[in-house]
Amino acid sequence: MAVIREPFGRTKDGREVEKLTLRRGTLEAEVLTYGGVVAALRTADRTGTMVDVVLGYRTLAGYEENGGYLGALVGRYANRIGGARITIDGQTYPLTANEGAKQLHGGPEGFSFQVFDVAEASKDRVVLTYTEPDGKNGFPGTLALTATYALTENGLSLRYEAVCDKPTVCNITNHSYFNLNGGGSAMDHRLWVDADAFTPIDADSLPVAASADVAGTPFDFRTEKAVGRDIGQDHEQLRLAGGYDHNFVLTPKPGLRLAARLTGERSGITMECWTEQPGVQVYTANFLETDASTKSGVPYGPRQAVCLETQVPADSPNHPEWGDVILRPGQVYDAATEYR
Ligand code: BGC
Repeated sequence: MAVIREPFGRTKDGREVEKLTLRRGTLEAEVLTYGGVVAALRTADRTGTMVDVVLGYRTLAGYEENGGYLGALVGRYANRIGGARITIDGQTYPLTANEGAKQLHGGPEGFSFQVFDVAEASKDRVVLTYTEPDGKNGFPGTLALTATYALTENGLSLRYEAVCDKPTVCNITNHSYFNLNGGGSAMDHRLWVDADAFTPIDADSLPVAASADVAGTPFDFRTEKAVGRDIGQDHEQLRLAGGYDHNFVLTPKPGLRLAARLTGERSGITMECWTEQPGVQVYTANFLETDASTKSGVPYGPRQAVCLETQVPADSPNHPEWGDVILRPGQVYDAATEYR
C-alpha cells in the first residue's frame, strides 16, 4: 500500500505543502512537508479508542501564524545560542537573532519554517530533505538535511542526517507537544526521566552551569511522578522558566537508550522516548498560547502538553568544554530518537 499524500495548503509566499499519512498496525502519523512537522500521531488507548497524542493545527495558516513550533523539526541549531554568535576555529560568526539578543531554534528562517522535499515515501516511512544555504540565519556553510520518519513495530522513529561544506554547528530535534490523553492539562501525566542532573538557566534561559544535581529538587523525575506535582514549588529555576523548560542530562549510556517515559493518566497510553542524544529538554508548554485554528478548534494554553526535545544543551557552541558540537565537511551528523 502506498503512502497517503494530500495537499495541505500553500504558504503565505505561495509554496505548496503536502501532508503524508503513515500507517502501521494501530499506529498512524501525519507528517507535513512544512517544517517537517509531525501533525498527528494516533494510537489506541486502554479501551481501544484511537487518540491523537500531539497538539497541532487544522490549517497551514495555523502553523504559520502561531508560534510555539508545534510538532516541528527544529534546526540547524535547536534551543538558544547566547549573544546570537558562534566561534569556530577562531572565527566568529554573528547569527540572526530572534529572541532578544539570542538566537532560538535556528533563527527566524530556521528549518521549522521551510518547505522540505519528499525524497522517498512508502506506507510507513517518509524521507524529507532540505538544504539550508550558506549564511542563512547567519550560519556558516551549506547544510543538507535528510530526515527519516518511520513507523516501526515500536512507534515513531526519527532520524536526522546532515552534511556541510564548511565547518558549522548542528543540533536537530523534534518539538512535538505530547498530550497522551488527547487534550486538557498534561500536568497529571506521569513522567520518569533517566537523569541525575539538569542544566540550570539564567533569566535569559541560557545555561549557567553544565549541570546541577536533581536530588532534593522538583527536577527529580528518577522516580515517576505527576509532571505538575512539584511545578508550583517556590524554586528559583521553576520561577525563571515559568515551569519546566530545562535540559535534563541523561545518565550516559551507549546507543539508542530509554531516556524518559510519559503516561496519560486518563488514556492509559504510555510513551517512551529513546534517544542517542545526551540530553532531553523537558518543556511543559509554559508559554503556549494559540488561536482557534487548532485541531480541536479550541485555543491551546499553557501546560496542556509536555515536550521531550532530545538534543545537546542550549548554547553549547559557546561552551566547547561541554563537548564538540561542530560539524565538519566529510562528517555526517546522525542522530536518532524514537517515541515508542
Ligand atoms: C524552549 C521554550 C520555547 C519553546 C517554543 C522550547 O524548546 O525551550 O523556551 O518557548 O521551545 O518556542
